[in-house]
Amino acid sequence: MSNKIFSGVQPTGNLHLGNYLGAIKNFVELNNDTNNNCIFCVVDLHAITIKQDPNKLKNNVRETVATFVASGIDPKKSIIFNQSSVAAHSEAAWILSCVARMGWLNRMTQFKEKAGKEKEKASIGLYSYPVLMAADILLYDTTHVPVGDDQKQHLELCRDIAQKFNNDFKVDNFLQVPEPLIQKEFSRIMSLKDGSKKMSKSELSDLSRINLTDDQDQIKNKIKKAKTDPMPMPKDIKDLDERLEVKNLLGIYSCLNNTNLQDSIEIFKGKNLSEFKEKLSDLLVAEIDPISKEIKKLLEDKSYLDKILLDGVEKANSIALKKIDRIKEIVGF
Ligand code: AMP
Ligand code: TRP
Repeated sequence: MSNKIFSGVQPTGNLHLGNYLGAIKNFVELNNDTNNNCIFCVVDLHAITIKQDPNKLKNNVRETVATFVASGIDPKKSIIFNQSSVAAHSEAAWILSCVARMGWLNRMTQFKEKAGKEKEKASIGLYSYPVLMAADILLYDTTHVPVGDDQKQHLELCRDIAQKFNNDFKVDNFLQVPEPLIQKEFSRIMSLKDGSKKMSKSELSDLSRINLTDDQDQIKNKIKKAKTDPMPMPKDIKDLDERLEVKNLLGIYSCLNNTNLQDSIEIFKGKNLSEFKEKLSDLLVAEIDPISKEIKKLLEDKSYLDKILLDGVEKANSIALKKIDRIKEIVGF
């Protein structure tokens, strides 16, 4: 039986190396395996849980599609579509929000981080965001969900919602309980300026991340300026416990070089950081620069990107409609 893969990326601009290594690179591998049916969703409904500029949203959706395609996802093999064009997502989210429990959502750490001290001013959408994410996944009988480490808790909630729905309505296995696909190592790429913070789209300093649209010079400059410490390269994994920034850069190197951390340490042990940074820059430029160029090229052909979405919406809609119809029947509508 084939695997059903579903994942989502928010069209909130500044897609970066963390998105790429934590998620998109894996999407490409999954897309290339003929055992998989893949769906990659640009989650614009999720994006508006935080204020977005309506004049920019559509183009941010296109940029996300361009990034998928430039990274190697083949729109002929995988379904690429935007969430707001398939009404079943919003409908299923409401029904599932009547299944999910407040106590479950209250535990979500991402809400706490994003809402910060202004919890009372956060949108209700930001709070119930993981329920919409569960709707996305469950509408397509998804078996596997590739994501970065920060989404682990949301996936556990999705599994709980699926199981409770199946139990409450006595429909064994109707909602497929999905498995997360999270890399064991380097599933959380950190900021280039602070090794204790996730690399993020919303961080003010552009020097904190490598954007997938950065050119060679920008990449080299950001690695040169990346925070490190004055010590030589470590000899042992243990030496990295207190050296978060160097650990992150070695992680990025290992990811790009398809090696493990220990092997990367062996290559550079005792050497100067500048020598390591140069090698890391070369690897990054080799991987990211072609993607960056391709994104820019694709963005010049908006009608091509819109066509990908249109095809994707049609395919996604036909799957989702069947599932939401059954869901409505089951709850008694
Ligand atoms: P988002 O941009 O929040 O929609 O995230 C899209 C995907 O990228 C999700 O699977 C995230 O888990 C993943 N992701 C985002 N930031 C990072 C990061 N710093 N390291 C690893 N994965 C990440
Ligand atoms: N919440 C995810 C993120 O911010 C994006 C997302 C929405 C998603 N729906 C999804 C990921 C469904 C996987 C499956 O990264």
